[in-house]
Amino acid sequence: MTSLSRASAPAKAILVGEHFVVAGCPAIAVAVDVRARAEARLLAEEGVVEVSSRELGSGTFGAQADPRSPLYPVYAAARAVLARAHLNLGLEVRVESDIPPGAGMGSSAAVAVATVAATASLLGLRLSLEEVSSLAYEAEVVVHGRPSGIDNTVSTYGGAIYYRRGEGFVRLEADLEPVRIVLADSGIPRSTGEMVSKVLALKSRHQGVVDRIYDAAARLVEAARDAIERGDYETLGELMNINHGLLSALGVSNAKLEELVYAARAAGALGAKITGAGGGGMVLALAWKEDAEEVARALAKVSGRVILAPISSEGVRGEG
Ligand code: MEV
Repeated sequence: MTSLSRASAPAKAILVGEHFVVAGCPAIAVAVDVRARAEARLLAEEGVVEVSSRELGSGTFGAQADPRSPLYPVYAAARAVLARAHLNLGLEVRVESDIPPGAGMGSSAAVAVATVAATASLLGLRLSLEEVSSLAYEAEVVVHGRPSGIDNTVSTYGGAIYYRRGEGFVRLEADLEPVRIVLADSGIPRSTGEMVSKVLALKSRHQGVVDRIYDAAARLVEAARDAIERGDYETLGELMNINHGLLSALGVSNAKLEELVYAARAAGALGAKITGAGGGGMVLALAWKEDAEEVARALAKVSGRVILAPISSEGVRGEG
């Protein structure tokens, strides 16, 4: 055991396939190099976990931990590692995150993944990436019910992940260095659950028509996977634009999201689309590394929050 361990884990963004993934189509998500960090130390008092968060304040958890506390997921992640190590030591866990919460970027999963890795390293417990991901998932289940598992997977492994609900994940072999991700916030709040229900209701009202859109989306994701594996980012960008059109057809776009998408394209993005549930939230643009600043500048004129980041080929990592 050491006296202090640190780890960090990246955010995620869905590149192609959101909404369609709910009905069994594949999707691809990427790790975005905006990170959550965790730091773990041993405490003298057994069975106690003190959690502090730059964003959420601090709290102490013992035998009677309150699952409604916003810090509970951090505690749950540390506790999952202690249980795995069959230890009941006292811990102090500090977390901080540069990932905007509630933006569909997997901030809670990244915090959980970083917490699991920092705690395991503190305890001298050597976990495989699969174990880190699944312990973080355990902590996520406490807060989010039964999430798909994509957030903790992307945050743990990094890179680009192809997935299909209930069928596991494939990490794509890709050179992601030539491109950057630019995310722009519409500033419009939205509920993922409501957007998903709205889309499924449209699908059931117009089954024969909308099923064709889902078929197109499934083919599009396969083509996008191919393009990523070939490093053909022009084709990927075009496919992202088509994906945006399909999402618009499902009714999840609006005037603000279209403004952001067209601003990104006009500034030289390879492709731009809604990412996540739509109705508000974020737009994602893919750009060549050399063009990304220009795309970010154009988006900053019409968005209150713009994030420019590489795709992180590295997932969770120790921070010394
Ligand atoms: C939300 O980030 C992504 C959706 O596809 C919903 C889901 O997959 O659970 C819209």
